Amino acid sequence: MAAADDDPPGSAGAGAGDLAGTRGGPAAASIVPAQTRPAAGNVLEVRDLTVVFPGRRGRGPARAVDGVNLAVDHGEIVALIGESGCGKSTLARSLAGLISPTGGEVRYEDKPLRYSAAALREYRRHVQLVLQDPAGALNPRQNVFDAVAEGPRLHGLRRDLAARVDSALSRSGLRPPGQFVARYPHELSGGQQQRVVIAGALALGPSVLVADEPVSSLDASVRGEILKLILDLRDQLGLSALIVSHDLGVAWNIADRVAVMYLGRIVEVGTVADVLLRPEHPYTRALISVLPDSRRDRPPAALPGEPPDPTAIPPGCRFHPRCPRLAALAPGDPRARLCRESDVPVLPPRGGSRLVACHLAEDADPMREER
Ligand SMILES: Nc1ncnc2c1ncn2[C@@H]1O[C@H](COP(=O)(O)OP(=O)(O)O)[C@@H](O)[C@H]1O
Ligand code: SF4
Ligand SMILES: [Mg+2]
Repeated sequence: MAAADDDPPGSAGAGAGDLAGTRGGPAAASIVPAQTRPAAGNVLEVRDLTVVFPGRRGRGPARAVDGVNLAVDHGEIVALIGESGCGKSTLARSLAGLISPTGGEVRYEDKPLRYSAAALREYRRHVQLVLQDPAGALNPRQNVFDAVAEGPRLHGLRRDLAARVDSALSRSGLRPPGQFVARYPHELSGGQQQRVVIAGALALGPSVLVADEPVSSLDASVRGEILKLILDLRDQLGLSALIVSHDLGVAWNIADRVAVMYLGRIVEVGTVADVLLRPEHPYTRALISVLPDSRRDRPPAALPGEPPDPTAIPPGCRFHPRCPRLAALAPGDPRARLCRESDVPVLPPRGGSRLVACHLAEDADPMREER
């Protein structure tokens, strides 16, 4: 396949489209997906995870995460994508130990996470959350040194604190660290603020970063730099990461594997090239089809149908009210009943190079449907 054909649909306008050097080379090379790394065992995993929030404003309970299996390997970057409200942040916060799930479990290094204060404290040394808005994450009255030293101090890591802070700042690209330690957040650019937040996470020597929309509040010009930093940290420190993003361009540029979430469930998971270039689930295809496409001069479009509501999950396949594959079935096709009445089995954490939660996935002819 020619290089130009390897662009995911919409990559040029997908927000993080022009990521010169993200993968360590010029712009053209930056959109080559990373090789999927050989399996080295899961560092982080969720099994059958469910998070139900109590009803608000007279509505029923919200099943924000509704039976999710997902695994992240050592040194692997997994992108979690999906529309707003599909449960990405709830899953990320559960992985970071900030939400105690209603059902299922989070596992780190093959052991279930316990929710005692001591167990959570230990866990957070290994799994660190990076949020979308660095300005909100940083205390405006705390200088860079204190911001980065906060985690180590809380964990009693006071020995060689200055060296630990310097090293974390350098690793985060704030060099020389001496030029930054005395500054306050308002004296830094958005990109530098996000680097300070990442340095704060690194100061604890974690194995995994869980980053919730880590570049969506940043200018397009610095998004690529922050993504490149996360890639470098993986390469230099062997860090694993789960990157939450509604932006498929971010997933394309950084991930080894992509998991697509719809209404609290993972509906498709596989290598970045499989999922973004050869999507099989009708929802993944719909997400890709509405991206802007500079080659076809097509502006972004809205996904058809009602946005999903976790307080009113449809029976059968939860995507069926919006599904173009179901809509294209001939009248009287018996498979339509399956879609409308039978829940689709939950995907396991791994299995083959790609998993798809669709009753008709086996029948789907990828050449038949327009992407
Ligand atoms: N604390 C909460 N109480 C009730 N509902 C919530 C709460 N947090 C999130 N939700 C609901 O759960 C669903 C998933 O939210 P979220 O995980 O933030 O989605 P995403 O990050 O994909 O936009 C949304 O419908 C949201 O309104
Ligand atoms: S199971 Fe049916 S409704 Fe659901 S995604 Fe597949 S074709 Fe569409
Ligand atoms: Mg979110």
